Amino acid sequence: MARKRTAKSLGQRHDFHYFQRWGGWRLTRAVLMTALPAFAILWLLSYHLRGNAIPYSSGPLSSVHSFTGKQCNTCHAPLIKAGAVEVGFRKHVSDQACLSCHQAPAHQAMQTFTPTCASCHVEHIGSPHLQQTADQTCVQCHGDLKVKSGEPRFQTAIYNFDAKHPEFAPLRDNYRDPGTIKLNHFVHLRAGLLGPNAQPVQLVCQDCHRTPADQSTPWKYGQPRMVQAALTSESDSEDPHNPAMPVEPIHPGAGRAYMAAPTYASACQSCHSLQFDSHFSDSVPHDRPEIVHAFIVKKLTDYIQQHPQALHEQIRPARMIFGGKISREGQQAVVARTPAEWVKLRTADAENLLWHKTCLQCHTLNYQGETQTAEAMPEVAPANIKPVWLKNSVFSHYAHVSIECSSCHTKAPTSQETADVLIPSIKTCQSCHNGQPTSFGKAQNGCFLCHQYHNWNERSQPFQPSHSIQELRGANEAHGVEATKQLSAMFFGR
Ligand code: HEC
Ligand code: HEC
Ligand code: HEC
Ligand code: HEC
Ligand code: HEC
Ligand code: HEC
Ligand code: HEC
Ligand code: HEC
Ligand code: HEC
Ligand code: HEC
Repeated sequence: MARKRTAKSLGQRHDFHYFQRWGGWRLTRAVLMTALPAFAILWLLSYHLRGNAIPYSSGPLSSVHSFTGKQCNTCHAPLIKAGAVEVGFRKHVSDQACLSCHQAPAHQAMQTFTPTCASCHVEHIGSPHLQQTADQTCVQCHGDLKVKSGEPRFQTAIYNFDAKHPEFAPLRDNYRDPGTIKLNHFVHLRAGLLGPNAQPVQLVCQDCHRTPADQSTPWKYGQPRMVQAALTSESDSEDPHNPAMPVEPIHPGAGRAYMAAPTYASACQSCHSLQFDSHFSDSVPHDRPEIVHAFIVKKLTDYIQQHPQALHEQIRPARMIFGGKISREGQQAVVARTPAEWVKLRTADAENLLWHKTCLQCHTLNYQGETQTAEAMPEVAPANIKPVWLKNSVFSHYAHVSIECSSCHTKAPTSQETADVLIPSIKTCQSCHNGQPTSFGKAQNGCFLCHQYHNWNERSQPFQPSHSIQELRGANEAHGVEATKQLSAMFFGR
């Protein structure tokens, strides 16, 4: 039998009341649609009542700032502040907010604009290293350096350390070491150099070069320097008007970044003594010529008083011969008539030797006036040993203790002149500092590693902090927890 398909019978198949029925998928959707926003509102409300705005945060704070993270308004100023009630917060953080906790002096007086703190120190990415600013933050200016007025004093197109960074200033333009202490590194680092008591020794760099923190430990060829010992001594000063400096606990790298300037006392003394007269085994003090002179006169005066018979000795004064050598050959022997004359003759002899040979070996001596008289007292040229060479950057020997000295200072073992510059070239650094350490075989090379942005000398002293612990941690936290409990009891009966 043929099926009867009328429009009516077909029409009856349609459910015209489907929208009135609740069940299945529809019910689920409806419940989700109302419950979820309600839940979200309740969730936000519960945070709000606790005075906590974390849900609005765009990401975790840096580890150093996390402690105040619940108090968004320590950084984000409120949008509206009506009495005690603060509504919402500004998305952008003003430098002023940062400066309420920090001193962060600007970079250069000559800079044409000042980037905001937050453009370099990026927040809400959970950074454990807020100081590790992106190279781009520097390159925005140094890629094409402009100054407020005049010409830039520095290279103007620096993009990154590997390729577009200038060679360090002392290694450019045939710069020479301005130091005046004559030191032949090659001679001193040779095997079999004669040490104290004419015993052969092999010097190493650390026999002459140490960081300030290592200075008070024993020196092989001199006296320990008491700099650090004095700094770390626990002894309280007796003088109430001049109390001892508080001693800070030492962290591992403290005082180990740069090498102290070598001194005669710590590095040269036991091989280069300053004897002045055959009657004495001791040396003159290593000091200014006037002080050396006074010392010699006193020593000789005391001696002749105690040994009057010495007056009758013949004195054959030394004299300078060609090539800076000293000789007594051909000099008339003389005998002093009075103790005063004896002292005078022997002093002149001793000083002749010191000024023309002993001191001159290491120093440049200058004389006042045009002509050099026998009694003229020389002036010792300032030593000018630089403790810091690269003033526009920071460096740390401590960070590189694993590396042999001459592997960086390649020129030191063969250098024969003080004027030679022994600081390593940028190429030495680039062999390691060539990229992101996240990939194998590289050491960090961000600008921040070697440079300071802030001119820390410009800090105003002392800093006035302005926050209380309650303000930073949230005063109504306990109250907020109580309010949330009440709220949850209202809705869920718990
Ligand atoms: C230590 C300071 C500090 C604290 C505390 C802090 N923020 Fe921020 N926040 C910043 C900085 C810096 C920025 C970047 C601002 C800019 O671009 O001017 C920022 C940006 C934001 C932005 C905008 C993000 C974007 O992509 O534009 C939001 C949203 C935000 N913060 C929410 C919060 C919330 C919510 C809290 C509290 C739970 C909070 N912040 C606490 C420093 C802070
Ligand atoms: C409520 C006070 C407070 C505010 C506001 C604040 N900081 Fe800090 N900041 C700190 C404290 C505390 C430290 C940790 C100090 C330390 O370890 O020596 C710190 C550390 C830092 C450091 C050093 C990070 C490191 O790894 O050692 C930087 C950079 C810094 N803050 C930048 C900022 C910037 C930029 C802002 C503004 C967006 C800001 N801070 C706002 C308190 C604050
Ligand atoms: C707003 C522009 C600007 C930004 C950003 C900037 N600099 Fe500079 N920088 C300058 C100017 C201007 C000078 C000085 C030029 C002069 O006096 O001839 C300078 C000088 C320097 C010098 C040499 C002088 C010195 O005191 O050491 C170094 C190194 C330096 N900047 C590194 C950096 C680093 C690293 C950064 C990024 C963290 C940076 N700069 C970000 C503008 C800027
Ligand atoms: C073996 C090398 C050596 C000899 C010899 C030597 N000195 Fe020096 N002298 C040094 C060194 C190194 C320094 C720099 C560091 C220091 O102060 O010890 C120095 C520094 C000085 C200074 C300070 C210079 C300044 O920077 O103002 C004076 C003064 C001085 N010596 C005087 C003398 C006199 C006088 C003699 C001879 C009696 C003498 N020295 C012999 C190595 C020597
Ligand atoms: C271990 C012993 C020793 C120490 C330490 C030492 N010297 Fe010498 N120095 C010598 C000897 C030995 C000579 C002679 C070398 C030769 O001519 O073969 C010499 C030679 C010199 C000369 C002449 C170099 C030349 O070109 O002929 C100078 C200048 C000098 N020393 C300076 C110094 C200074 C400055 C110090 C300290 C910073 C110092 N020395 C530390 C042993 C030492
Ligand atoms: C990673 C390479 C490197 C190594 C390894 C290294 N130096 Fe240096 N050294 C430098 C640099 C860069 C400077 C310039 C630092 C400055 O003054 O700005 C320097 C400077 C110096 C100076 C001049 C004074 C100063 O500190 O500025 C002396 C002296 C010195 N180094 C000795 C040594 C000795 C000794 C060793 C081994 C114990 C050593 N260095 C290991 C790179 C190195
Ligand atoms: C591995 C260490 C290191 C890194 C990384 C580094 N620099 Fe340097 N930079 C130096 C040293 C060292 C000097 C020499 C300083 C001096 O001569 O006093 C220097 C010099 C400079 C100077 C002065 C140039 C001149 O004309 O004398 C500027 C500007 C500078 N750097 C900017 C930068 C910028 C921007 C970056 C990042 C793109 C950067 N540096 C990365 C070590 C570094
Ligand atoms: C006998 C002591 C002595 C020894 C050993 C010695 N030095 Fe020096 N060094 C000095 C004196 C003194 C100066 C300062 C005079 C000068 O500038 O040459 C100096 C200067 C330096 C400087 C900075 C001056 C410049 O022109 O760059 C460096 C870097 C240096 N030495 C590295 C080394 C290294 C690396 C070694 C080991 C391979 C070493 N020295 C061994 C005494 C010594
Ligand atoms: C053999 C590899 C090697 C060489 C060569 C080398 N460095 Fe480094 N340097 C390192 C490593 C590794 C670190 C630690 C890096 C880090 O903290 O991410 C470092 C750290 C530093 C730091 C940061 C110091 C600190 O206190 O944290 C500076 C600045 C630096 N190097 C400058 C230089 C300069 C300038 C040269 C060239 C004279 C140089 N380095 C050569 C491996 C090297
Ligand atoms: C052009 C990028 C740049 C800007 C803009 C900038 N900083 Fe820095 N900041 C750095 C770099 C790079 C360092 C690490 C080197 C140094 O100490 O200068 C640093 C270091 C710091 C430190 C760490 C000090 C410590 O104890 O070690 C603080 C705090 C800081 N900045 C706060 C600020 C504040 C606040 C502002 C805004 C007023 C600001 N910075 C602006 C790049 C910047």
